[in-house]
Order: sequence, then C-alpha cells, then structure tokens
Amino acid sequence: MTREELKKKKIAVLMGGLSAEREVSLKTGQAVHKALLQAGYQALAIDAGRDLATRLVEEGIEVAFIALHGRYGEDGTVQGLLEVLGIPYTGSGVLASSVTMDKVATKKLLLYHELPTPAFEVFRKGQSLETLLARCRHFPLVVKPAREGSTIGVSIVKNADQLQAGLEDALKCDELILVEDCIQGPEVTIGVLDGKALPIIQVVPKGGFYDYQAKYTKGQTEYLLPAPLDPTLYERLQQVAVNAFEVLGCSGAARVDFMVSGREFFCLEVNTIPGMTETSLLPKAASEAGIPFKELVQRILEGAGTEK
Ligand SMILES: Nc1ncnc2c1ncn2[C@@H]1O[C@H](COP(=O)(O)OP(=O)(O)O)[C@@H](O)[C@H]1O
Ligand SMILES: [Mg+2]
Repeated sequence: MTREELKKKKIAVLMGGLSAEREVSLKTGQAVHKALLQAGYQALAIDAGRDLATRLVEEGIEVAFIALHGRYGEDGTVQGLLEVLGIPYTGSGVLASSVTMDKVATKKLLLYHELPTPAFEVFRKGQSLETLLARCRHFPLVVKPAREGSTIGVSIVKNADQLQAGLEDALKCDELILVEDCIQGPEVTIGVLDGKALPIIQVVPKGGFYDYQAKYTKGQTEYLLPAPLDPTLYERLQQVAVNAFEVLGCSGAARVDFMVSGREFFCLEVNTIPGMTETSLLPKAASEAGIPFKELVQRILEGAGTEK
C-alpha cells in the first residue's frame, strides 16, 4: 500500500502483549505510535491482550503495525489472527514468524541451506543430564530456551554443574532447550530491511555478556557502527544475513545476530520484530544508512499485507 492510501486507514500499533518481553514491546510500540502520529497517520495504540480479536473488530482496524516481541506476537500467532480477520500487518508472515521464534527450527533451516550456525544439541524437559553430557564434546557451552528473547534464560556454562543449573534456569522459560557451542566473539547484529542489509553493528557489552541488563540499560554496552571488521568479512556477513532472511522467508524488517570468530562467523538467530525505540539497534543501523526513524517506520508500514 502507498503512504497516501495508508493515511486514509485506521492503523493499530499492537504492543505490550503477553510475553516476557512485554516491557520492551511497550517501548517499541510507543516509539512507533508517536512516529506514525507525527507523520500524519491515524494510529491507535492497542495493548495486545487476550481480548485482541474483539478490540481489532470493535475499533474497526484496517492495518496492524505489530510492535510485539516474543511469544503471542513475534511467533506467528498474532499474524495468524490477523490473517483470519483479513487485516494487513507489518513484518514477516505466519510461517517465518513461527520458525524464527524457535531457535532450534531456525538452526535446522540454516543448516539445510548451508548457512553457518554454532554446533548444538537439543535438550527436552525430562531428558537425562548424563545423555546430554555424553553428547557434548567440550565446554564452554551456551544454554538457552528455544523460544525466548532478550537473553532471558540464557547462560554460558563451563562445567557439568553449571550446565545443570543453566538447564534448570532455561526450563523456567521453555520445555525445549538449545545447548550450543560458545563462540568467543566479537558479536555483531545486522538489520535487514526489505531484503537489503543495513550497516553492521558490533555490540561490546561492558560486563562481557550481552544479557538483559546490557541490552536495555543505557551505558552498559558500547555499539560500534559500522563494525570495524575486515571489508571482505563485512560484506560476507551482510550477504549471509540477507540469505538467512530469505531462506527463513522473512518480510519487512528483521535483525540477524552473529558471533564472529577470526575469519569465520556463526548465525545465532533471526529476530523478525526487532526493538524499535529510537535508540534500538535496527533504527541505529537504519539511521547510519541515511534512513531516519520516521522514514524507517513508514517503510515497514508500507510493507503491510496478508498471505506473505
Ligand atoms: N553460541 C553462542 N556463543 C557465544 N555467545 C552466545 C551464543 N549464543 C548466545 N550468546 C550470547 O547470548 C545472547 C543472547 O542469545 P541469542 O541467541 O541472540 O538469543 P536472544 O537474543 O533471543 O535472547 C547473544 O546476544 C550473545 O551475547
Ligand atoms: Mg539475540
């Protein structure tokens, strides 16, 4: 849809929701809502709770800008609801959203397409630690819930005791756990907008681990933009980020996380609804590419559709 057409529509910014990333989503949603109002759209902020379907119908919503993170929003469920209601929505469709929400499913697809991702084992609730230990060749390992975000439930473990503690922690978030080779880094993230890579950001958490606090507390992480990488490596990373976006079937904006190790690099995950506060990573990268926040929000909005 063109911007002129969209300006005549009643747009909902879906935010908040039911996931552990609710607070971050409210910030994303508020920033997007403000930008849309400033750009002259009829935008309404909606907290996407259990009554979402009723709210959308009652308010006569014609287009949805999804600013939700995590489950019930980034995972294909809200996308499915919007498909049923016939409301065009931003970002990836049902399948890409649900696949990328699950880090195990994502990694299997990346491997199928020969895109690099750290070696891993899968642990399910109820399985024995001994069986897992027998399959793990070395430490350190990274333990993470398969379907969570914002580094919630993620730990780096250096021995069997820590592995057990890490699994217990991750099991609080999900029954499916990913146990992955730990790559020393540097860590980079690459925004992809409409199939094109944005400048690469290198994240340097001051405490060494890019956890929830390092992600969302001002001053806890240094961001190098553009990432000071060798130009050939830089280009290859951007290409693989675009390939990952494509093979996973993403649309609109996404952010692909990588760990770099020498000349090699490994894809950790793809976020189909990256944080969108004015200081979040995707807007930072877009701005470096000459796309200001208000323009970024409108580009994402223009991609709204169904049956993606
Ligand atoms: N295999 C790994 N090696 C080293 N660090 C990792 C690895 N996997 C995750 N991490 C660290 O944990 C953070 C969160 O992991 P990630 O897979 O991006 O999940 P999410 O951002 O959804 O919580 C990363 O940003 C990175 O700092
Ligand atoms: Mg991540």
